[in-house]
Amino acid sequence: ELQERDSLIITNDFARSYFEDQLYNTEEGKSIGLSYFKQRGFLKETMETFGLGYAPVSRDGLLKAATAAGHREEQLEKLGLIRNRRDFFYDRVMFTIHNLAGKPIAFAGRVLKKDVKAPKYVNSPETEIYHKSDVLYGMFQARQAVRKLDNVYMVEGYTDVISLHQNGVRNVVATSGTSLTSGQASLVKRFTENVTLLYDGDKAGIKAALRGVDVLLTADLNVRVVVLPEGQDPDSYMQQVGSTAFEQYLEEQRKDFLFFKADLLLEEAGDDVASRTTAIRDIGSTLALVEDPLKRAAYLQQFSGRLGIEEKLLINLVNKAIADRR
Ligand code: UTP
Ligand code: MN
Ligand code: MN
Ligand code: MN
Ligand code: MN
Repeated sequence: ELQERDSLIITNDFARSYFEDQLYNTEEGKSIGLSYFKQRGFLKETMETFGLGYAPVSRDGLLKAATAAGHREEQLEKLGLIRNRRDFFYDRVMFTIHNLAGKPIAFAGRVLKKDVKAPKYVNSPETEIYHKSDVLYGMFQARQAVRKLDNVYMVEGYTDVISLHQNGVRNVVATSGTSLTSGQASLVKRFTENVTLLYDGDKAGIKAALRGVDVLLTADLNVRVVVLPEGQDPDSYMQQVGSTAFEQYLEEQRKDFLFFKADLLLEEAGDDVASRTTAIRDIGSTLALVEDPLKRAAYLQQFSGRLGIEEKLLINLVNKAIADRR
């Protein structure tokens, strides 16, 4: 078992070095891939830290190189690197996905052409060494900073992680566009109890933040949220304003998650009594996820004022939601 996993990682490591070699040492890679990353502002050191690479247009480059180096075709298929005897990743810039030991367990490739029909990113399939729902992109590069600062920023995208890391915000990982899982929450908890969601400043980003939070609260993590200006993602905003203003924005905009959710729901509800009641119930059911009784009591006190209802009533509501869950 252990040997099988090791050999899969060795083959993936060959692929990583192949994609890097293509990026730095071929005319095609330099003129297409490297210039793309440079135009996005990525420095050589950053590209090396994250194992960025290039998959050429030809569809048998990796297959030929890997089999010549003794990697079995069956193994390449298993890893999703080869499909139907052709390279799975081609004509893309490549991102390596590492495990906590810094070994390559999967890849993502980004298209360079603005073809609306094709998905922007393609990813390795689930394998013995890659369980997508237990992985947070960038955790290997972030882990020391996360421990030291006792906080982690969660962003949506690969390039958000890379861009923030390069600009000094190193305690950052990405969910890679999916909704948060309990496996990812447990992973985070090995490093810190404080999570700050930093999602795109659009409806989808706010929705994703709302969805992610119940999972995090259930894992007994402290959750805060920063919403970026409309139309920005962490990478674009960092590139636009620079690291000083970016970090200042994080400081100023950071909200406790429950206040964020309450404000949002109440604002949507307006003065309508029925919508307001629904909103308060919804907030109550999220409050019921807060495991720590002291923390919950502190929230209840603050919320009753904010919601303009008696604390007793809110306590009853939350206790009922807790009882219903059991
Ligand atoms: P985005 O569409 O916000 O992309 O998706 P991005 O990260 O900002 O990338 P750039 O800046 O355009 O290069 C956020 C994340 O969702 C996942 C990826 O992990 C991506 O980084 N995603 C997105 C996919 O897996 N497949 C897709 O087709 C699109
Ligand atoms: Mn988005
Ligand atoms: Mn705790
Ligand atoms: Mn984005
Ligand atoms: Mn982006």
